Amino acid sequence: MSDVLCIYYSRSGKTKKAMEEVAAALNAELVEITDGVDRSGWKGWLRSGMDAMRRTTHPLAPYTTEKPLEDYRIVVIGTPVWAGRCSSVIRGFLKRRGLEPKRVAYIITRESDERRYEEVYDQMDQYTAKPHLCANSLRVGYVGYEFWRDKFVADVKAFLEQ
Ligand SMILES: Cc1cc2nc3c(=O)[nH]c(=O)nc-3n(C[C@H](O)[C@H](O)[C@H](O)COP(=O)(O)O)c2cc1C
Repeated sequence: MSDVLCIYYSRSGKTKKAMEEVAAALNAELVEITDGVDRSGWKGWLRSGMDAMRRTTHPLAPYTTEKPLEDYRIVVIGTPVWAGRCSSVIRGFLKRRGLEPKRVAYIITRESDERRYEEVYDQMDQYTAKPHLCANSLRVGYVGYEFWRDKFVADVKAFLEQ
């Protein structure tokens, strides 16, 4: 059983790709979550944007992890950026279970070329027991993606080796 859990939501596959690669590099357990809301097409895009802006959350579809969240040394949480915020699916996860992990780290994926997303990390930290250990925002498929992904993996590994 791994000491690291990578848990994520992905609407269109980019966060999924990043989290699959990060989980493989960290030998981590990987779990995808969803709230079961239809977020496809332009109506789904609009709904997602409105949910993020209003901070609306919906019940999550059932999911399982191999251990209780507090038993992992670190939980890596992956989300797309929606309207300058974390996705409402990950907000729903954090609202319900954010206090359980001992340590958290964040991967957020984005479309804009703005790399600094401290505001999103700070929003997510409002639900967690401790501020995040490390975080990175990735623009999947663009120049620099692999560099920043690998930097994140190195930061988590350094923590695990302590
Ligand atoms: C409703 C909505 C709002 C978004 N808002 C932003 C944004 O504010 N900034 C940004 O860089 N990208 C934004 N995006 C783009 C996504 O964050 C980006 O494409 C992300 O990598 C998609 O991840 P996914 O494929 O895992 O869903 C938005 C996408 C959606 C659907």
